[in-house]
Amino acid sequence: MMKEFQWKTILKLSGEGGSITFLGKKNEREHWIYKRNINEIFSLEEMDDHPPNVEYQPSKTIKKLKPTVRKSNEATHWDSARKMIEEYPLEYLKPVHVHPEFAEKVWDIISTKKLPKHRLKLWVKACFPTTTNEIFELFYALTKSKHTVVLTGAGMSVESGIPDFRSPSGWWKNIDPLTVATVEALEENYDLFYEFYSVRINTLKGCEPHEGYRILAKWERSDLIHEVATQNVDGFHFKALSNHVDELHGSILTYRCHQCENEASRDQFLNKESCNFCNGKLRPNVVLFGEALLEKAWNNALNHIQQADLVIVIGTSLQVYPVSQLPKMTNGKTVYINKEVSEFQSLFDVKIEGSARDTLIAVDQLIRS
Ligand code: APR
Repeated sequence: MMKEFQWKTILKLSGEGGSITFLGKKNEREHWIYKRNINEIFSLEEMDDHPPNVEYQPSKTIKKLKPTVRKSNEATHWDSARKMIEEYPLEYLKPVHVHPEFAEKVWDIISTKKLPKHRLKLWVKACFPTTTNEIFELFYALTKSKHTVVLTGAGMSVESGIPDFRSPSGWWKNIDPLTVATVEALEENYDLFYEFYSVRINTLKGCEPHEGYRILAKWERSDLIHEVATQNVDGFHFKALSNHVDELHGSILTYRCHQCENEASRDQFLNKESCNFCNGKLRPNVVLFGEALLEKAWNNALNHIQQADLVIVIGTSLQVYPVSQLPKMTNGKTVYINKEVSEFQSLFDVKIEGSARDTLIAVDQLIRS
């Protein structure tokens, strides 16, 4: 029995008083073929949905889309179908329907056009209906920003298998940080200090930065983001190939003697050895509670945040000073992405409640380099 292939609407556009529909169907070789239907001749009046204060002024002339003799109304390949679609002033037309299988292709076309924000949003919603307003706002701000800084916390690594600190499954749910993450703990109760950090070091084994980390590194290469300031000590931003990273709370991947500051190796720490030179206690190069932040990292992060016109904060409860103050030190737009969003984050322009990884993937789907 021959499989019946029906014409499906690939893209339907509406203008003042008419619409254009691009259809597609698979032929017997499962290859897509395309055709267009113009159901009415329609003219492009001054678009009544452009209040005078929009970013751009539509041309004053009324454009008539006459059914001029087109080269063809049919196409056997997407490239020719794309040419048919691009014959129309898409900037002035509204998307009525985009076939999900062609969302990326249609969005590739639209991404090359200069559309005002509210029209771009119509196309995003038509191509990717699950895109929330907040995801769109972040996408739009990211593409418009000239200097973007990202501030991350432990929530950014949870989807890589690393617990955060203050969630129900976090490190501080069963451990009092003051008994393990202070200089006093190191000096007075080294066994507990050593136990806590060796467990955290071993937790990193087999864990890799997730797709969200790789997206931030890609956005750095595309000049979409310019600095990452992180409270995390797992080194995942570097491991995902971000370069401009300020590790505000240090790193659990390098070690030193607490007394003479001499470098030590991971194995020396994990083997609970003493310093080769002064027999002092070994520690990871993390900033312990009560210690000053690493000056170079702090100053660099602060400098970028003060210059930023967009600051994206991801996966942090912002409960630890002074990093918690950084988002207040920018005049730029601020976006907060977190699994839990409470009224404490009211200072943020955009708040996205959800997964760090899924949110970054959803925004990246819209980015065209
Ligand atoms: N996606 C987004 N957010 C998440 C996810 C996720 N998958 N998982 C957890 N979160 C959120 C949690 O809801 C929480 O609000 O990430 C936040 C992590 O907050 P904390 O656990 O307090 O971690 P952080 O803010 O980085 O802590 C700062 O405190 O103990 C010190 O030195 C430690 O650097 C750490 C600092």
